Amino acid sequence: MGNVLVTGATGGIGVALVGALVEAGHDVTAVGRGVGRLDVRGIEADLAEPGTLASAVEKLEEAGRLADVQALVHCAGISPVAAVADADPETWRRTLAVNVGSAAELVRLTLPALRRSRGHVIFVNAAPGMSGVPRWSAFVASKAALRELADSLREEEAVFGVRVTTVYPGATATELLGEVRSAFGRPHDPEKCIRPETLAEMICWVLSAPTDAYPCELSVLPSPG
Ligand SMILES: NC(=O)c1ccc[n+]([C@@H]2O[C@H](COP(=O)([O-])OP(=O)(O)OC[C@H]3O[C@@H](n4cnc5c(N)ncnc54)[C@H](OP(=O)(O)O)[C@@H]3O)[C@@H](O)[C@H]2O)c1
Repeated sequence: MGNVLVTGATGGIGVALVGALVEAGHDVTAVGRGVGRLDVRGIEADLAEPGTLASAVEKLEEAGRLADVQALVHCAGISPVAAVADADPETWRRTLAVNVGSAAELVRLTLPALRRSRGHVIFVNAAPGMSGVPRWSAFVASKAALRELADSLREEEAVFGVRVTTVYPGATATELLGEVRSAFGRPHDPEKCIRPETLAEMICWVLSAPTDAYPCELSVLPSPG
């Protein structure tokens, strides 16, 4: 199997995803901060600075691992909770850069390889990324932009055989979710959330779709009860 680039690989969902990808026989390269501590190849990058990603991808090329990129899973994300009245320009800049700008830049830099491999781009979005949420504007704006990026890219790259999927997870039991719920003053019971390992399995399943069809969108919710 080809090389799968994963952002957010050090996070709650990302760690599970890397494990599931390795288990499924994929060769994984993590792109992000502190990725040296993972058991897979890592390329250091600060996704809040998309302009620096070209040099990160050059390192991948120097290691001879750019040409065999078969998939990119953008799982990195930040989720600041602040009313529009309180969110400063740096909050907006960072959120848009990490959640969507870096994804667009990583796609741009890896597209030649993805076209050659007729590869797959997966964007991890969020169930609330579809509409406005008070005190979450930068986050939901970034996820709405990520959805539009996916939809534009899907149409642009269909001619090259590149697949593009948006995954919309509901509540998934990670520390980030606990922090967000606490900031909103909402109760949090990880037992009622999706296990990161379950979501990771579903993302692997998307990657393993047959050649004649694939899920271009996947919404995942915790089972009721
Ligand atoms: N958990 C949920 O309930 C839920 C629901 C819907 C959608 N999602 C989405 O799922 C994705 C992962 O969420 P999670 O719960 O696993 O969150 P998480 O544990 O906080 O992981 C976030 C990941 O993004 C990385 N990241 C953040 N800023 C970065 C930067 N400047 N440069 C490089 N990497 C950066 C983090 O690395 P660092 O350690 O270096 O910060 C970490 O690996 C996010 O896109 C989130 O919006 C989560």
